[in-house]
Amino acid sequence: MYKKIQETAAWLKTKMPTHPTTAIILGTGLGRLAEEIKVTLTIDYKDIPNFPVSTVEGHSGCLIFGKLGEKDVLAMQGRFHYYEGYSMKEVTFPIRVMYEIGIKTLFVSNAAGGTNPDFEIGDLMIITDHINYFPEHPLHGPNFPTGPRFPDMHEVYDRELIRLADSIAAEKGIKVQHGVYVGTQGPTFETPAEYKLFRIFGADAVGMSTVPEVIVAHHCGIRVFGVSVITDLGVEGKIIEVSHEEVQRAADAVQPLMANIMREMINRN
Ligand code: HPA
Repeated sequence: MYKKIQETAAWLKTKMPTHPTTAIILGTGLGRLAEEIKVTLTIDYKDIPNFPVSTVEGHSGCLIFGKLGEKDVLAMQGRFHYYEGYSMKEVTFPIRVMYEIGIKTLFVSNAAGGTNPDFEIGDLMIITDHINYFPEHPLHGPNFPTGPRFPDMHEVYDRELIRLADSIAAEKGIKVQHGVYVGTQGPTFETPAEYKLFRIFGADAVGMSTVPEVIVAHHCGIRVFGVSVITDLGVEGKIIEVSHEEVQRAADAVQPLMANIMREMINRN
């Protein structure tokens, strides 16, 4: 796997028009930030050696090099989900490649169900911590030389970046929540009993992504900032039927606010 990562990184280095140190992963329904990037190069995942190919509806798959405001960025439009059948090594492959090509800070976004009773649909939740509830660990197997065998996890979501997000949100009058994200394998949304369980665990939101990528980024020493868009509520008395389309619609409605915060953070960072 390490050889493949290096092979892909070496290939990308021959194509890269810029040398960004900031990367963005755009989650479900949150691809619009990519439209603000002054694109210098787009590469389809299918054209990148060793890259897995995204399959899910609503997730286009390409790497974008360009400028967001004044900053060189690398954006992943579409990510690889465990529920699609990828192994955790495949889900996190792009992060390993990012490290090899010089990425130092990673911004991730996702759509999530809120389990905190104070949340509303359309809230933005800055991720302060996570619970890994996936059945396979992304660091399972021989250790990669990017980090220790037993990585410390006491501060995975960079406190400074969280403070910056808070001050930008306050300046712009955008309401933000803070909370713990629990990552599950999917593809089912939760039963009411499962939402309740995750609330008891200490989760404020639940989704099917992010945690694997963040663990690997942290293992590589990449600083991480994450934000969830609350697209539905897993709160007793408020649970209604939820579909992928509704999740996308709800995410779509909030994306300008999320993009606003992310853009500003990336430019001040
Ligand atoms: N559960 C899991 N994943 C999700 C949800 C949810 O309620 N909403 C959006 N992604």
